[in-house]
Amino acid sequence: MGITTLEQFAREHESSFSGNCEDLIGLLSAMQLGGKVVHQEVNKAGLMQHILGAVGSQNVQGEEQQKLDVRANDVFIEVIERQGIICGVGSEELDDHVNLTSCKNGEYVLLMDPLDGSSNIDVNVSIGTIFSVFKRKSPIGTDAVLEDFLQPGTEQVLAGYILYGSSTMLVYTVGNGVHGFTYDPGLGEFCLSHQNMKFPANGGKIYSINEGNIGQCDDSVKRFVQYCQEDNKEDGRPLTARYIGSLVADFHRNLIKGGLYIYPGTKKAPNGKLRLMYECNPLALMAEQAGGKALDGYQRILELEPNDLHQRVPFFVGSNQLTDLATSFLSNEITA
Ligand code: AHG
Ligand code: MN
Ligand code: MN
Repeated sequence: MGITTLEQFAREHESSFSGNCEDLIGLLSAMQLGGKVVHQEVNKAGLMQHILGAVGSQNVQGEEQQKLDVRANDVFIEVIERQGIICGVGSEELDDHVNLTSCKNGEYVLLMDPLDGSSNIDVNVSIGTIFSVFKRKSPIGTDAVLEDFLQPGTEQVLAGYILYGSSTMLVYTVGNGVHGFTYDPGLGEFCLSHQNMKFPANGGKIYSINEGNIGQCDDSVKRFVQYCQEDNKEDGRPLTARYIGSLVADFHRNLIKGGLYIYPGTKKAPNGKLRLMYECNPLALMAEQAGGKALDGYQRILELEPNDLHQRVPFFVGSNQLTDLATSFLSNEITA
């Protein structure tokens, strides 16, 4: 028996890191610290008026910024800067990437969605943080440049999320399995609770999509959702619909129980809503490492060549079986 902290676990598995393990373990420590700060604030959000509500400004994508979006962004940048290995940060809440001028010798850049599920902050529902790390392309000792960030997801050396749910968890991958750590507030440590997470072998029965948008979706997506809802005892339909509206929480549930999350393109937003660099790439790496798939409908998310920090892509992520099933409806559309 015994408790294994995240740092102990990472040190015992140093050979699984594809980059400088000392640096990346240090970065995981910084992300843990940021996660603890956000955890504390989220847990008393209803008592702290400076945490709830909107700031009154919009981010570069035209979305209303919540106070906790801005606060989480600042907290993670502060802890990362102090840690020293990240030379630049791209964030959903920043117009452009920022250079951490005191960390020019850092070998890595970080992309993040500091607070995922903003619409759930004020109603006490699970929210999260998502992060992704690349090795820089520009010379060490200089400022980070856009090309350091615009790399395909296959180049990620570390990806993960923190889920502020019924408990707080940090889940990460360095390309060698997905491992989950539950925060013990008494110890102040993230402790190993979910080693080598995998989608259930049968692929599961959950589909997650904002059905309010279905009238805006392509016919193939409508047909897939109808298919999920039909009765068929032989193949176990209908499936079960679950949608929290916080991607991290929907992804985490579907990883554990088996399911598929879809945010397709719509008539109003042909590329969907979710951001390739802050949301889709890191979760795609985690999905694949957990034996699942992540596609934009047709192509592997991880192989997409990014052209913009804030680029959006349609997102189909989940177990192999359900991702293949959903995207087979799209393929039918193309060949029809
Ligand atoms: P964010 O709060 O970082 O802007 O992300 C919100 C995202 C994602 O978490 C969620 O799955 C999706 O938006 C929900 O969008 P809809 O409300 O359009 O369903
Ligand atoms: Mn988000
Ligand atoms: Mn966000």
